[in-house]
Amino acid sequence: MNNMIGKVCLVTGANAGMGKVTARELAQMGATVIMVARSQVRGEAALDEIRQASNSDKVQLLLADLSSMASIRELADTVQANYGRLDVLVNNAGGIFNQREVSVDGYEMTFALNHLNYFLLTNLLLDLLKASAPARIVNVASTAHVGAKIHFDDIMMAQKYRSFEAYGQSKLANILFTYELARRLAGSGVTANALHPGGVATEFATGQGFMGWIFKLIRPFLLTPEQGAQTQIYLASSPDVEGISGKYFAKKKPVQSSKISYDTAVAQRLWQLSEELTGLA
Ligand SMILES: NC(=O)c1ccc[n+]([C@@H]2O[C@H](COP(=O)([O-])OP(=O)(O)OC[C@H]3O[C@@H](n4cnc5c(N)ncnc54)[C@H](OP(=O)(O)O)[C@@H]3O)[C@@H](O)[C@H]2O)c1
Repeated sequence: MNNMIGKVCLVTGANAGMGKVTARELAQMGATVIMVARSQVRGEAALDEIRQASNSDKVQLLLADLSSMASIRELADTVQANYGRLDVLVNNAGGIFNQREVSVDGYEMTFALNHLNYFLLTNLLLDLLKASAPARIVNVASTAHVGAKIHFDDIMMAQKYRSFEAYGQSKLANILFTYELARRLAGSGVTANALHPGGVATEFATGQGFMGWIFKLIRPFLLTPEQGAQTQIYLASSPDVEGISGKYFAKKKPVQSSKISYDTAVAQRLWQLSEELTGLA
């Protein structure tokens, strides 16, 4: 239960849903937890709740809008300046958007928040993770990636926007990114894995038209946030997965992802495009 003492874990989207449960359980295991949220009010409410539930004062809150590349850079700078190490990065914040929205950088919102955010934050924190090895990167993806493709001809879906297609593309991007990252990190002591949490009754899709309505309808049949968060908590903390990298998990077990997610040419093309869009190139 206390196997995370001395470790520093960063969890994005930590004020709600599965991110909040993940932050709380890692704090209960003794970790120093950096919670990332975009709203000070919601972030502080969750911070108080988690400090009380975990009886730990090693939980801190950082604010960032993870759909903004500048805000992600500020967040990474703050982490580098204030924490001597980073043992676990849980990329969890995400969403689905009923209507096409555009981020401050002019990017389609689902792609910016669900993929470019994971890509940029991870790359900016990579040196710190490597210096803290053994370290872990956990990317929350989804089974919604099945049947999706990367629209290289219209990555921002400006010509034809469908919310579920945009979401599927972003979640496929999470898995392609995880596999490519794991290949690049081989031998570094830093692992990267992705996961599907299950269908979970969180705030996901709330207020997002048709998807929100569907989610409301099936809510009684979904997992609780506590149940849904278990695979990401397992990947972040369990000795069972020490050294395991480049896998996609569901229910705490490695499972197959879609055929295209294993296509290294697609993964490399997406990596290069992501470097250009985030200014890392
Ligand atoms: N729920 C499911 O059935 C399901 C299934 C498969 C995968 N997933 C994935 O699981 C992850 C967690 O989702 P959840 O179900 O726990 O949803 P949730 O309850 O809606 O939580 C999402 C979190 O992301 C944060 N967030 C959203 N936009 C942000 C932004 N621009 N900047 C910073 N933070 C932002 C939210 O903050 P606010 O409170 O400020 O909005 C919230 O803390 C997502 O990656 C989702 O794609 C969910």
